[in-house]
Amino acid sequence: MAHIIGGVATSHIPAIGGAIHKGLQKDPYWKPFFDGFPLVREWLREIKPDVLVIFYNDHGLNFFLDKMPTFAVGAAEQYDNADEGWGIPTLPSFKGEVDLSWHIINEVTDQGFDLVTCQEMLVDHAVTLPLKLLWPEGKCPVSVVPICINTVQFPLPSARRVYALGRAVGEAVSSWASDKTVAVLASGGLSHQLDGERAGFINKDFDLKFVDSLLTNPEWATQFSIHDLVEKAGTQGIELLMWLAMRGALTTSSAKVRKVHWNYHIPISNTATGLLALETTA
Ligand code: DHB
Ligand code: FE
Repeated sequence: MAHIIGGVATSHIPAIGGAIHKGLQKDPYWKPFFDGFPLVREWLREIKPDVLVIFYNDHGLNFFLDKMPTFAVGAAEQYDNADEGWGIPTLPSFKGEVDLSWHIINEVTDQGFDLVTCQEMLVDHAVTLPLKLLWPEGKCPVSVVPICINTVQFPLPSARRVYALGRAVGEAVSSWASDKTVAVLASGGLSHQLDGERAGFINKDFDLKFVDSLLTNPEWATQFSIHDLVEKAGTQGIELLMWLAMRGALTTSSAKVRKVHWNYHIPISNTATGLLALETTA
């Protein structure tokens, strides 16, 4: 059977794509953000996941406001990127892990989640940029299962439900009949708000409490309603739900986690950026 060897959570600001393209990693504005990654890349080279399950939110490339699934799982042979209008270079396609996609879809549906299944799925900056940050050289070495969680248009799924989804996905992975090793990625957050009167809102105190809870008490954030979380983290900071799903996926019956690396920097664009890597221990 397969098992989950670890998880990574990272912010996904579109401007990162431009910075990579222009080679600005050492620029004083960008350095504190990019400097978080080498240690995580080194750890990934050691643990060598074959497959990455990715919790992310689409920003209008694949799902627009007219059709907005709460949870959508990719089951495609490959995932294409396309021009999203941010001026980010379009990246080459990523390889799907179709067998795991359908295993997750079947198991998680059996656990009571009603999913949208996508045999064609464009992936936006929320998928492509973390992959480029984690494996900057050459072709991406992992195949992927993208799981899209709506954090864009109300009503959004509750923190409790997202954590339960993560757990169900984790359990599904551990009953997948395969020798492949699997890691989990969360893409989004931390606190940020792009629109309205609070545009530019960042909440360091809450971000740090939330990340600490992922290590000490992963269910802590499930006490909050979506409106509480929007108030605390911002209208787009609600993307931290992905971190909760990732942590849920690591909570299989025996797995404990150890922190491999943590980096936090304010701001890149409008966002408090976070990078967290967790390894599961028996
Ligand atoms: C920004 C952050 C995001 O999460 C996003 O999807 C788009 C833009 C930003 O801070 O610029
Ligand atoms: Fe976003």
